[in-house]
Amino acid sequence: MVTPKPSLSSVTPYVPGRSLESVYQEKGIRAIKLASNESLWGPSPKAVEAARQALDQLSLYPDPHFVQVYELLGAQNGLEADNIIAGNGADELLELIALTFAGPGDDVMYPSPSFSAYHHGTLLTGANPVSFQLNPEGAPDLDDALARLTPHTRIIYLCSPNNPTGGILHQDAWNHFLSQLPDSVLVVVDQAYYEFVDDPTYADVRRDILESRSVIMVRTFSKIYALAALRIGWAAAPVPIIKALYTNRQPFSLNRVAWMAAQAALLDQDYTIQVRQSTLEARTYMTSAFVSRGYRFWRSHANFITIDVEDDAHKWAQQLELRGYVTRPATSFGLPHHLRITVAPIPILEGFFRALDARC
Ligand SMILES: Cc1ncc(COP(=O)(O)O)c(C=O)c1O
Repeated sequence: MVTPKPSLSSVTPYVPGRSLESVYQEKGIRAIKLASNESLWGPSPKAVEAARQALDQLSLYPDPHFVQVYELLGAQNGLEADNIIAGNGADELLELIALTFAGPGDDVMYPSPSFSAYHHGTLLTGANPVSFQLNPEGAPDLDDALARLTPHTRIIYLCSPNNPTGGILHQDAWNHFLSQLPDSVLVVVDQAYYEFVDDPTYADVRRDILESRSVIMVRTFSKIYALAALRIGWAAAPVPIIKALYTNRQPFSLNRVAWMAAQAALLDQDYTIQVRQSTLEARTYMTSAFVSRGYRFWRSHANFITIDVEDDAHKWAQQLELRGYVTRPATSFGLPHHLRITVAPIPILEGFFRALDARC
């Protein structure tokens, strides 16, 4: 039988958070999912309506480059539409970046523990994966990354806020880091949780993009916009980088429903502001609730908090599931004693903490 190319021998499929359907099928429990950092506030009703209307045109191919969304993203982020590429989720873009810029003989670096797409994308290209550590805040340790730089380094992925720890890159440290890098190294800053950060020292990379540094910023509609099911994310970079990515992206990787919903979501900024406010309030509530119970955890700038349960996190997740809450053991991140929990509306969190307290 034919076998896949040897460079894929160590590639394993992504381990997703447990779905509500599988919990119901296995246990007959209608649970609440706090496992995948989705927004429990849901999408803007205007985005839902736009998605419904898009169903009237299912027979037509989608626009490969829906200019209205590019212009809105550009205008709302101080960028030009030409600096932007959308993709089938941030996932597609993170992989596309690796496939476009790295290959056998290159080193691709990423923090660990962090989002698995960087490791996965690296292996797909046949490049050499090089991981570096997090700092005590749970953010990529930029000094450690610099220390591991080699003449073969081609891409450095950074996640800010970092999944699963929630730490962010700070502006001063970022500026210093970039000043130490040759422009032949591409830095990818995954900002999937950007909208939940309220720290004024959070590193903004847009100026570097406008100054044509080799920097790509990646965002998603899956988190604050709550459109995870539709699969739409976007990236911004200097124009030559965007053009290179386009040569590799499938023309119709974004569907019409996603385009229309994303456009409506971007236009409904009042709703986004409300969701952000509620998420930050709930995160404060959740932080205090974990502190008062004596759990150890990284202070999170995202819509999740990852706690140290000092025990087998799978066991805890199973016990919580029986009480109706699906959480994410961080085992696949290399943290078998940590549990990641999505920030949710406070009434849901009250129920979650009752379940946590009554767990044994
Ligand atoms: C850090 C990070 N980047 C990217 C993604 C993927 O986003 P998308 O749903 O747009 O593919 C996730 C999803 O959880 C994530 O945590």
